[in-house]
Amino acid sequence: MDTFDAIKTRRAIKKFDSNYKMTPEQVKSLMELAILSPTSYNQQNWRFVTVTDHAVKEKIHVAARNQAQPLDGSLVILLCGNTNAWKDDPMRYWKNHPLEKQEHVKDAMHKKYSESSQNRRDEAMRSCGFAAQTIMLAAKQMGLDSCPMVGFEYDEMAKIINLPDDYIIVMMIVVGKAAAPPTERGGQLPLDEVVFENKFN
Ligand SMILES: Cc1cc2nc3c(=O)[nH]c(=O)nc-3n(C[C@H](O)[C@H](O)[C@H](O)COP(=O)(O)O)c2cc1C
Repeated sequence: MDTFDAIKTRRAIKKFDSNYKMTPEQVKSLMELAILSPTSYNQQNWRFVTVTDHAVKEKIHVAARNQAQPLDGSLVILLCGNTNAWKDDPMRYWKNHPLEKQEHVKDAMHKKYSESSQNRRDEAMRSCGFAAQTIMLAAKQMGLDSCPMVGFEYDEMAKIINLPDDYIIVMMIVVGKAAAPPTERGGQLPLDEVVFENKFN
């Protein structure tokens, strides 16, 4: 599928076909694409929990205030940020480059993140945002549909997935086959309300 078509046809699906099951190979392909998403300093601070087990999906469905998607969709992905990625053996993020580069990145990340929980959190949000769009567009290319979701009880979800300390759940994405077409788009704002040339007015 053409990239423009994937962008235009990706929609937040509310009704998934509960009989459709992705193969483990499809799940793996999707995650191999997800980890090509960009991260600042290539710190790869996303962590993904992929759920296909029906019993776990049932719990997630309840935590998601009984929304249907996690139960009916084939795959539920919890996109989480590791806020300690900056200090988690950081030289390996540039292992294909000379030692000098690895050390430069390690020092730069220490400076940016060691004293600022806000910077650590912001980076988790940014990185997972990029990964989310990668997953949703890749799913389209694979003939699949998706729904990004944050409508869930955070603490309940953290317990279900056994979220480690210093990790943040950023969002959930359900992937599967749509059972019904999406409703008409809510309505995009006009370009001249959201795009500014050179500076804000
Ligand atoms: C961060 C985020 C959280 C969302 N949470 C939910 C959700 O909990 N349940 C749901 O049905 N849709 C959810 N959506 C889908 C949005 O409602 C949808 O993306 C938006 O209305 C635009 O529609 P479109 O994605 O079909 O273009 C979420 C979308 C985003 C980006």
